[in-house]
Amino acid sequence: MNVLILGSGGREHCFAELISESKNCDKLFVAPGNSGTGLIAENLDISPLDFDLVKGAIIKHNIQLVVIGPEDPLVRGIHDFIISDPIMKEVKVIGPKQRAAQLEGSKDFAKDFLNRHNIPTAKHKTFTSAQFEEACEYIENNDPPYVLKADGLAAGKGVLIIDNANQAKDELYQMLVNSKFGAASSSVVIEEFLDGIELSCFVLTDGKNYKILPSAKDYKRIGEGDTGLNTGGMGAISPPPFLTSIIKDKIEKRIIYPTIKGFETDNLDYIGFLFFGLILVSGDPYVIEYNVRMGDPETQVVLPRINSDFLELLNSIHTGCLSEFDLQVNENSAATVVMVSGGYPEIYEKNKLIKGLDKVKKSKVYHAGVLKEKGLLKTNGGRVLAVTSLGEDVNRALETSYRSITKIIFKNQYYRKDIGFDL
Ligand code: AMP
Ligand code: GLY
Repeated sequence: MNVLILGSGGREHCFAELISESKNCDKLFVAPGNSGTGLIAENLDISPLDFDLVKGAIIKHNIQLVVIGPEDPLVRGIHDFIISDPIMKEVKVIGPKQRAAQLEGSKDFAKDFLNRHNIPTAKHKTFTSAQFEEACEYIENNDPPYVLKADGLAAGKGVLIIDNANQAKDELYQMLVNSKFGAASSSVVIEEFLDGIELSCFVLTDGKNYKILPSAKDYKRIGEGDTGLNTGGMGAISPPPFLTSIIKDKIEKRIIYPTIKGFETDNLDYIGFLFFGLILVSGDPYVIEYNVRMGDPETQVVLPRINSDFLELLNSIHTGCLSEFDLQVNENSAATVVMVSGGYPEIYEKNKLIKGLDKVKKSKVYHAGVLKEKGLLKTNGGRVLAVTSLGEDVNRALETSYRSITKIIFKNQYYRKDIGFDL
């Protein structure tokens, strides 16, 4: 089978690694990919948002299965685009159709879905710019901290948590009236603050059946001790040691099962990965967000724990065999530490020479913002590399990743030295 992966991060490098190892994979392409995917697949210089170019690549390379990494193309309807074209209607797409992708594309849509299906989530109310005064009243009538969320996609920056009512009203004004996040904040969800521990759960689903993948915990803040600005993710571990079988059962019964049932009830065509961002409050799980894709860097700890043929697993969604698929999970723990360019998630410099990757023997290094130029690897983004290791437990996996990192050198490099500090 010829496969095309869309995306260019560490997540897509990790997808490419597992798919390239499958006995069912003939040719593997990644668009646009990165220096890491270039080692195991053919990179195509195509943006995942340019649907016509994607179509050209599908036809030219006789692609049978397309895996969509990031949310943007899904929210813009790439799945519908592919299968509604008579030339591509047999292509198998991993990623939900546009209407279902609104679960990530619109926080208000997701909240309506959660409430309609009685799935535990924070109490909320949604306001448009015409309702600014009403939104201010809502803030006054509720207790801090205030969680303000831009309704649409805002590249992971659209959530603000604010302790003070006046400051919350100022921010609300910036979002609703001054379009702080562009069209994404023309509606704002104001949500009850949930105090607890976060974790990420993942399923693969054909819209009726599902397979639960290993869970993970992501470290989103730039600074040690979970301080400073939010990032795409600075590290992750799998499984979270606090995830007991009792909590797993609650998550499946109260959240995963009713979500999949909700797809059937609402006639939402959902094929692909679903990522549940959860908070455990006194041992009870609440959904804080749905993502219609895998996480990055969570993928880099979840997928290395899957021992089954990954392409066969993806294909089983389309052949109606998902529920019979024997998903084998490695009992070891995995940890990944993300190396970033100094200054990220704000301004940072690119083009720094990366050395030492050949000296890393005990970890996998997934490339993200890395460019290969005349045989040399150079930094080309905020998040540069994710260094993943397996171990008997999370601490051993982390030790190995941190040892490997000492061998990798680029100017202005930064990474959090405390991934897993809270466990
Ligand atoms: P999101 O983009 O929805 O994942 O939100 C970003 C981060 O904001 C989450 O990872 C949480 O740490 C935090 N967050 C979002 N919603 C809430 C909430 N209702 N209560 C507490 N923290 C939240
Ligand atoms: N690491 C969080 C995300 O992928 O959304």
